[in-house]
Amino acid sequence: MTNLVSAIIRKATADDIDAIAEIERECFPDPTAYSKPQLAYLILRANSACFVETDSKALRGFIIVLYRKGTIVGGIETIDVAPAFQRRGVGLRLLAAAEEDMKTRGMKFSQLEVSEGNKAAIELYKKAGYMVNERLVGYYRFEHCGTRDAVRMVKTLS
Ligand SMILES: CC(C)(COP(=O)(O)OP(=O)(O)OC[C@H]1O[C@@H](n2cnc3c(N)ncnc32)[C@H](O)[C@@H]1OP(=O)(O)O)[C@@H](O)C(=O)NCCC(=O)NCCS
Repeated sequence: MTNLVSAIIRKATADDIDAIAEIERECFPDPTAYSKPQLAYLILRANSACFVETDSKALRGFIIVLYRKGTIVGGIETIDVAPAFQRRGVGLRLLAAAEEDMKTRGMKFSQLEVSEGNKAAIELYKKAGYMVNERLVGYYRFEHCGTRDAVRMVKTLS
């Protein structure tokens, strides 16, 4: 329990990419996982913000937000919590950090797409105030959690 107290959320740096890629591999089987170069691009080069929750020993999880010019909708590209740290509130804290960042950049809505089969993630988003906005049939090229269909979920940022 002690290490829960010392957890902090901060912006990711280049030094975090290895640990982030490891969590991505733990969370998603091939071919659905982002590769390390893809994650490095998303985190270090894209118009994005990436937050990590860490303690003195481990990186517990990360979230990537993507921004596009000319829109007031911020996009959650992915959120992963290392299996050893799941169900401890890390996901909700990372979502809150991402939403704060969106608000500081003038975003009015947070949006994401998630596999219809990813019940854990859908429950997380619902708990954080997201609502299903649209069903996306055949959204994924490969099956995620047993289906290629997804839902788009949206939250109004206040
Ligand atoms: C989805 C994920 C990010 C949740 O992270 P987490 O840190 O475990 O979530 P939290 O502890 O903040 O959970 C908050 C709430 O979400 C819901 N939830 C989280 N995991 C759940 C699960 N396995 N089953 C059902 N509900 C779940 C619950 O309502 C939970 O509240 P509770 O623990 O009080 O019941 C994590 O399971 C994960 O990394 N999964 C693999 C990667 C992934 O699918 N990412 C989403 C891509 S769209």
